[in-house]
Amino acid sequence: MAKAVCPGSFDPVTNGHVDVFGRAAALFDEVTVAVLINKTKSSLFSVEERMQMLRESVRAYPNVVVDSFHGLLVDYCRAHGIQAIVKGLRAVSDFDYELQMAQMNHRLTGTETLFVSTNPLYSYLSSSLVKEVATYGGDVSGLVPDFVLDQLHARVRQP
Ligand code: PNS
Repeated sequence: MAKAVCPGSFDPVTNGHVDVFGRAAALFDEVTVAVLINKTKSSLFSVEERMQMLRESVRAYPNVVVDSFHGLLVDYCRAHGIQAIVKGLRAVSDFDYELQMAQMNHRLTGTETLFVSTNPLYSYLSSSLVKEVATYGGDVSGLVPDFVLDQLHARVRQP
């Protein structure tokens, strides 16, 4: 069975991420969306909240599951029999760091990284930008799933 992982922070998941999950789901038998547990990085949503939003986001894809991990991504892949990492590439600005990570991951365990070109509708989109715009009252509808929008509004409105 061909398995892939889409790793990330997903704080929160955007429609750009969901587009990548769907495209990975069409290429692999099973896709795991894996949330990095990073205690040193502050986040707007807890890991459990992010996973819940991701589960809602991938309802349409029966071969996509949601999990979390800590430590090295390649160790997670090895432990779960995952052969490939799938990521979206938005623009050339993503490329240098993504290439470094792909090469390091390949050196560590031979795990391959496949890049899908982000849908141009979402090429400027990032979780950080969505949070910033929502925090200052900007309209981010259509950029994140509707249930994420509700949670985002509720969270950024908190004192
Ligand atoms: O959404 P993000 O924060 O850009 O995702 C980055 C992520 C989670 C893909 C990357 O930081 C990662 O794989 N972290 C796990 C730790 C690891 O394996 N580091 C070595 C990468 S070569």
